[in-house]
Amino acid sequence: MREQIIFATGNEGKMKEIRMILADLDAEVLSLKDAGIDIDIREDGKTFEENAVIKARAVMKETGVLVLADDSGLEIDYLNGEPGVYSARYLGEDTSYRIKNQNLIDRLQGVPAEQRTARFVCVIAAAFPDGRILKARGTIEGVIGYEERGGGGFGYDPIFWLPEYGCSTAELSMEKKNELSHRGKALRAIKEELKKAVKA
Ligand code: IMP
Repeated sequence: MREQIIFATGNEGKMKEIRMILADLDAEVLSLKDAGIDIDIREDGKTFEENAVIKARAVMKETGVLVLADDSGLEIDYLNGEPGVYSARYLGEDTSYRIKNQNLIDRLQGVPAEQRTARFVCVIAAAFPDGRILKARGTIEGVIGYEERGGGGFGYDPIFWLPEYGCSTAELSMEKKNELSHRGKALRAIKEELKKAVKA
């Protein structure tokens, strides 16, 4: 039987991307829902790394199999890294991204282009049943735009402008976003780490 890996997310959009990128691992990649797991995990870490490890470890303890988990968010340099690990909770979990995005544009009002730098960060942790932990980090650099642009992607994508592509990440095709994104990079990096760990 193929080895089973659980990816600790309930987000089906992410699972599609994750399955595509991890396809050559020769393992069956299950979501929390696929694995029938419904646990409440307190993501009270202060860094993306801490939160990814907290999630991966909690689900590994529950299931006894290799578990991957991610934590991601937007860091805006002018706002000292905000919203950072609080990206999903910024202005409240249930507040629409139209409001969150407009609020960030307003907070950067009058700030010149060269000071609007930002990045999306994604950290993926792997928790093995024997206690080993592996981590991988991916980033994509951009600037905060002056208005929302594009209908693709999700979250902060409409205000995340890629100067070298002349568009926001909400205007990229899914394939292009997977190629360039923080999550795509972190996934490909953790895949290489896992291949090495299995051989070792
Ligand atoms: P989590 O890693 O699923 O907890 O997500 C963290 C939050 O960061 C999301 O809810 C979004 O607000 C933001 N975020 C992470 N990745 C992206 C992205 O690719 N585009 C837009 N927003 C993102």
